[in-house]
Amino acid sequence: MKVPNHIAIILDGNGRWAKARGMPRSYGHVKGCANLETICDDMKELGVKYLTVYAFSTENWKRSREEIEGLMRLFRNYLKKCIKISEKNKMKVKIIGDIRAFDEDIQRRIVELEEFSKDYDELHFYIALNYGSRDEIVRGMRRFGQDVKEGIRTPEELDERLFADYLDTAGAPDPDLMIRTSGELRLSNFLLWQLAYTEFYFTEVAWPDFNRAELIRAIETYNNRDRRYGGVKEE
Ligand code: FPP
Repeated sequence: MKVPNHIAIILDGNGRWAKARGMPRSYGHVKGCANLETICDDMKELGVKYLTVYAFSTENWKRSREEIEGLMRLFRNYLKKCIKISEKNKMKVKIIGDIRAFDEDIQRRIVELEEFSKDYDELHFYIALNYGSRDEIVRGMRRFGQDVKEGIRTPEELDERLFADYLDTAGAPDPDLMIRTSGELRLSNFLLWQLAYTEFYFTEVAWPDFNRAELIRAIETYNNRDRRYGGVKEE
């Protein structure tokens, strides 16, 4: 089985999963968060080098106050706990998205976690928080415009490689496989630039139930695809 170098996942279905069990949506997020820890271990064991997960979108602020508060509590706890997880898995963690929207203590925890894990390289773990792909592109191009203004760059220099350097994912290879759980067949503003050539895998399984066996099923499906980059079949 050829293991993808970079897997991206849209973690979807926590709310429906909880509702189906007569529980509040927040319970689904707690279970979803616990599952993220397990899946990180599985990725490491299977030899995946890059993992990117969509945990909170720029649109998610529209959810109820109660749900947002539950999610912020979860992020606080997880960001702290993730220091130990990064040590265990030798995992470099980076948050992508505009973190300025979060409370200061959350921003501080993000900086601490990134600083602590910066030299690990066995698994590169990107967590998308307050992330939207269009927002990422606009923020990146603003920075580029600023660099042009300051004489650091010229407009003629801009090509696809340099453009990618201005995204939050700068330095990461594009995902080989994108998984979305829980039956929705949309990208929902996730990594629009980075997923240009990526294989997509959609499953009905809700995120809290997405386990190692499901991950292997996704990788096997990916292996059976006839991967083409602009017409030339990969050897
Ligand atoms: C989608 O399910 C999930 C979210 C909006 C939040 C994802 C959060 C986690 C998996 C846990 C926390 C993660 C970290 C990084 C600490 P949904 O609520 O949209 O489910 P639904 O589609 O069934 O309503």
